[in-house]
Amino acid sequence: MAGERIAVVTGASSGIGEATARELARLGWHCVLLARRADRLEALANEIGAEWETCDVRDRTQVDEVAERVLARHSAVALLVNNAGVPGRGTFVSTSPETVERVIETNYLGGVWCTRAFMPGLRSAAAANGPAHIVNVVSVAGTIAFAPAGPYAAAKHAQLAFSRSLRATLRSEGIQVHTLLPGFVETEGFTPRSNLRSGIMRRFVLDADDVARALVKAVEKGRNEMTVPWFPYRPVSIFQALFPGVLARLVGSYGYRPGTQD
Ligand SMILES: NC(=O)c1ccc[n+]([C@@H]2O[C@H](COP(=O)([O-])OP(=O)(O)OC[C@H]3O[C@@H](n4cnc5c(N)ncnc54)[C@H](OP(=O)(O)O)[C@@H]3O)[C@@H](O)[C@H]2O)c1
Repeated sequence: MAGERIAVVTGASSGIGEATARELARLGWHCVLLARRADRLEALANEIGAEWETCDVRDRTQVDEVAERVLARHSAVALLVNNAGVPGRGTFVSTSPETVERVIETNYLGGVWCTRAFMPGLRSAAAANGPAHIVNVVSVAGTIAFAPAGPYAAAKHAQLAFSRSLRATLRSEGIQVHTLLPGFVETEGFTPRSNLRSGIMRRFVLDADDVARALVKAVEKGRNEMTVPWFPYRPVSIFQALFPGVLARLVGSYGYRPGTQD
């Protein structure tokens, strides 16, 4: 339909991506949902009046083909949410090599491939109605070297650098890049309410809907980086920047319950 604002949401089949798609649809966006589980995407698309495509963000060729199909239907994409991601509980010595590869390929490179593939649509939207937006769903683990999920934290650090450098790159083109840094969120893939050992950390666990609302606010208010919730994570991130060794050692003593490694 003419005048529709198009949003592409990756990892929309559950958790933060699903909640974001619902929130965007409620606000009048037309969503294109991407993930691997067709049944889940189809059910959500029917419910909120969206479109869907199966897409494995690790597969660069598949991402390019999906983007080509979506852009043939919608030449202007006003919002891309790079949200698809997988957990990686385990340290750099205990976790499997496959998990190390999976978290880098999904959580970091997946967003890079999707951004590159949807650039023509984002540029068209910015030129026609400006500005267009990209949201990268990073994590507080992008700013804190959380040893019990070392490879995951490293992938999220890479994704954070990607998001910050992309913001500087696209600024002059009228495409705003927003970085969302959620703390622990209860979702299908990440179940911190049951697998975190620390009762204090469990107290700060959010629901996906809280993060979806924050994500939309970041876009509407043009926020560069948003930590959700601000407390306790933002002060802890600042402490990490000032005293990296001390903080990494302190948070390293918190971890997951036995038997919850990926
Ligand atoms: N939950 C937390 O504590 C937390 C905290 C901070 C940041 N985050 C980040 O938030 C994002 C969403 O996670 P979530 O908590 O909502 O978990 P979730 O409920 O498990 O959702 C993950 C989503 O990513 C999709 N996905 C996974 N691998 C994919 C691939 N190769 N290609 C395409 N889609 C893929 C999944 O769909 P399919 O399986 O259908 O492909 C699913 O829709 C992730 O980037 C995560 O790192 C989570």
